[in-house]
Amino acid sequence: MSKTIDMEVLASLCKRRGFIFQSSELYGGINGFWDYGPLGCELKRNVKDAWWKTMVRAREDVVGLEASIIMHPAIWKASGHADGFADPMVDCKECRKRFRADQLCEEQGLALIKNGSAFALPADAACPACGSKNLTEPRSFNLMFKTFVGPVEDESNLAWLRPETAQAIFAQFNNILATARQKVPFGVAQMGKSFRNEINPRNYTFRSREFEQMELEYFIRPDEAVKLICGRVATLADNPDLAGEPQADWGWEVWHRYWVEQRLAWYRAIGLPAADLNQHWQTGDELAHYARACVDIEYAFPFGVQELEGIAARSDFDLSQHQKHSGKQLDVFDEALKQAVDRLDADAKDHCTQRIVAAWTGRGKSGEEARAFAVKLYEGKYVPHVIEPSAGTDRLALALLCNAYDEETITDEKGKTDQRTVMRFHPAIAPIKLGVFPLVKNKPPLYAKAREIFAKLQRRWPCFWDESGAIGRRYRRMDEAGTPWCVTVDFQTLDDGTMTLRDRDSMKQVRLGISELIEKMDAEIG
Ligand code: GAP
Repeated sequence: MSKTIDMEVLASLCKRRGFIFQSSELYGGINGFWDYGPLGCELKRNVKDAWWKTMVRAREDVVGLEASIIMHPAIWKASGHADGFADPMVDCKECRKRFRADQLCEEQGLALIKNGSAFALPADAACPACGSKNLTEPRSFNLMFKTFVGPVEDESNLAWLRPETAQAIFAQFNNILATARQKVPFGVAQMGKSFRNEINPRNYTFRSREFEQMELEYFIRPDEAVKLICGRVATLADNPDLAGEPQADWGWEVWHRYWVEQRLAWYRAIGLPAADLNQHWQTGDELAHYARACVDIEYAFPFGVQELEGIAARSDFDLSQHQKHSGKQLDVFDEALKQAVDRLDADAKDHCTQRIVAAWTGRGKSGEEARAFAVKLYEGKYVPHVIEPSAGTDRLALALLCNAYDEETITDEKGKTDQRTVMRFHPAIAPIKLGVFPLVKNKPPLYAKAREIFAKLQRRWPCFWDESGAIGRRYRRMDEAGTPWCVTVDFQTLDDGTMTLRDRDSMKQVRLGISELIEKMDAEIG
């Protein structure tokens, strides 16, 4: 269920407290670009750190990559982006506004008409701004930002800003394989900026023109290789234990589902409630022609249930495309496969080839391709298949902001009511973990003690020192920043070393010594 938050109220808090600013605001802003302020950049960093920790550092089978944003333009030819990464665009001839044709139709409960690679508008489509039906026919608009490498601005120096981080992983596959001491199945993770010249940036930071992605390309054996090695291919019907250790006999379908479960568990672990997460399994036309399955993990934003991450089973499409376009081999040698194949006699190989040809031709591939694949397989080689969990960092930061936002009416001991705005972030992703306050600032021993405690805590976590205003006001400021705890150092601290720890959500206070405090925070931040 979507939370009922006015996005303008959230955007205003984000600006006021330094989470998100409009890019270039001083000059009137620039549509589709956003800056993260002091709190926002900490929030985003925590999101990325949490992702990297779970996806790379906590696993033995995933390594990282940090590639350049501008790459050889041939990469985008091979990937299909140069020719096919486009959205259909329409203009209103009356008010001159521009829209994405598919979004315009969807919002009006209509279906955009597809004729091969061309599009047409249904007769009832109207301009969302002025209501006119005088719209242009949809035209394809490539979303990649162009630039030129070097001083000469001609076609031979044309380059693109990457529209996704994924392609660099495929382009560097051989180098990673040669250096990382990994064997299939293994993954390569990358996070970083991507750029898309979106026709209609909208919903605050949700659809931006510059954004960050966190992508994993997880390389697996083709099912045919699994079958030869293990004698069987486990499917979902076998009820594999998806929370347990991956198994050698898993086919692509199980690996795909495993990553869906892993990613959902991670979203829950950083504080998104299970009830607000949705799985949208793409069907028919929604699926890219090479994809065997794709699930969108969606979050119930205040403006609708929308995609946070796509998890696609992309077969061997990407590596095969780069192999074809670069002329370099991107296959792997699999020792276990070679040993399994060496145990087969000629009849068994013939039988296996027939099975492969039947399955491949059933999927619309040629018999020749299938036989070439089988020949490689008998040498112990194949082009790995890939499962791709691809998430948007900014979208996730926005989901976490929406999820955290809360307003509540509180009543004090005297019965006086007040409204408080509180950002209920999970402690692991909260920008500041602890506010540290001296009760008063004009008592030197108390002040010095508070500074000493602050210095000790700040070495471990991002803390915020606040000595100005009444304690209640200092709490309120930390509530708006989403700080899970505040520590107040008072006169008793000078006597027995204990201080009050105030919890952001319950507003309850307890007295603790420094080592108890550190223990509690370690346990809760994780
Ligand atoms: N490599 C696959 C890929 O890029 P995608 O579904 O186009 O797939 C993956 O993008 C994720 O990147 C999306 O689920 C979304 O979170 C994020 N993303 C895509 N376009 C975006 C945009 N214009 N603004 C913000 N995030 C975006």
